[in-house]
Amino acid sequence: MNNSDHAVSRRNFLSATAAIAGSVMLNPFSAVAAAADKKMRIAIVGTSGRALGMWSKSIKEKYGERVEYVGLCDINPGRLEYFKKKTGFKCPTFTDFEQMMKKVKPDTLMVMTVDNTHHEFIIKGMEMGANIITEKPMTTDEKKCQAILDTEKKTGKKVTVTFNYRYSPHRAKLYELVHSGEIGDLTSVDFHWYLDTRHGSDYFRRWHRLKEKGGTLWVHKATHHFDLLNWWIESDPEEVYATGALEFYGKNNPFRHTNCRPCPHKDKCDFYFDITKRQQLVELYVDHEKHDGYLRDGCVWKEDIDIYDKMAATIKYKNGVDVSYSLTTYSPYEGYRIAFNGTKGRIDCWVEESNPIVEKDYEEIVLTRNFGGREIIKVPHAEGGHGGGDKLLTDAIFLGVKSDPMHQAAGVRDGALSILVGIAARNSCETGKPVKIGDLTSIKPQAKREFVKLS
Ligand SMILES: NC(=O)c1ccc[n+]([C@@H]2O[C@H](COP(=O)([O-])OP(=O)(O)OC[C@H]3O[C@@H](n4cnc5c(N)ncnc54)[C@H](O)[C@@H]3O)[C@@H](O)[C@H]2O)c1
Repeated sequence: MNNSDHAVSRRNFLSATAAIAGSVMLNPFSAVAAAADKKMRIAIVGTSGRALGMWSKSIKEKYGERVEYVGLCDINPGRLEYFKKKTGFKCPTFTDFEQMMKKVKPDTLMVMTVDNTHHEFIIKGMEMGANIITEKPMTTDEKKCQAILDTEKKTGKKVTVTFNYRYSPHRAKLYELVHSGEIGDLTSVDFHWYLDTRHGSDYFRRWHRLKEKGGTLWVHKATHHFDLLNWWIESDPEEVYATGALEFYGKNNPFRHTNCRPCPHKDKCDFYFDITKRQQLVELYVDHEKHDGYLRDGCVWKEDIDIYDKMAATIKYKNGVDVSYSLTTYSPYEGYRIAFNGTKGRIDCWVEESNPIVEKDYEEIVLTRNFGGREIIKVPHAEGGHGGGDKLLTDAIFLGVKSDPMHQAAGVRDGALSILVGIAARNSCETGKPVKIGDLTSIKPQAKREFVKLS
């Protein structure tokens, strides 16, 4: 390893991450953010886990000068009241969305509901005068996606998709290295993601287990991964060929029950989950089952599970880059392996997010030059969720940024292209044929990705 090179790349990295963390003022999510002298008047639809954990109390505490919560809506009245109590918000609550929009007239609507309902609120929200901040995935199929694109155009409102994964320092460093010229021209990417038996199985307990609700993990989960690829590669995906199967969860077990609490098989089931030991989950879900019948500790062996638990895809990008991707949902540890192959070298990393061989407070990236040395670059973990990405994302949304050197801001086009890869993969699994992204909606893939414009 060349020490001076290493020192230079560490310096570059530190200056680049400082630029992301420290810059304020102009907002890349400009239309979403209120003018600097005005508070954003925010309403939330979907007052549950994600809204509580990420988009409510902590946002008010950190960005109180910039935000005001004016309305809360959920179809589960019990959860809605619990959310209000837990956040301490004083604003009115509604079980009817349109009533909320008419009454409180928010300028920003946060959409945090079940995935297959996002489009309803994104579309009505824009039609009723609000800019949108939506959780991923923006929506679950190509028709709903087109309807969102059309409404954004028609209303002049803006949709921001909260792609927190782009903001982790480690992934930002990968972006910087890929675009530094160190490995020459990027030609292909190997990207393999592993969900462990705890996290992976959780998707098979909840509404996510049904294709109708979450669009399969090709969309619900892999939207994060495809967004990272679209961002790192800086080009649009053009064609996807994929395969997938349900070989582990669902029908692949001799016994099953509705959910874990009353289960007669709990002593012999490796996936028995005692929700009564998780106070927050009891207060959020169990206490309100009487309103909607939703079982948060559902059986992972239920026969209605119709999503894939193992998935693999080949994705061709418009700039010629080829990607080999896979997602496994029952691994002994959680994490990913990624390699970027270029004409002058290769970048590798292996990230273990659970059960690591060695506990460490940094991630390593290995840069190997053809006919040259190997360099190990250590990227320190940042504090907070998603490797520090959550804080950088919320700073960008609520404080704004002066510049966006790594093009991390994500608009409706990015939201669309990340789900379209998953939708294409799902369609490909069903038909056995490759699917062209350009055939799904009016978005036509471009060799150079369109960046969100700063104002
Ligand atoms: N970016 C991330 O890392 C991340 C992490 C977790 C969840 N999410 C996303 O956040 C969203 C919410 O996830 P969650 O884990 O909080 O799910 P959840 O099941 O806990 O909450 C969904 C809420 O939406 C409500 N809801 C469902 N349909 C509704 C409707 N028609 N009208 C009003 N309310 C309705 C439900 O009653 C529930 O309170 C999902 O889209 C998910 O993909 C993102």
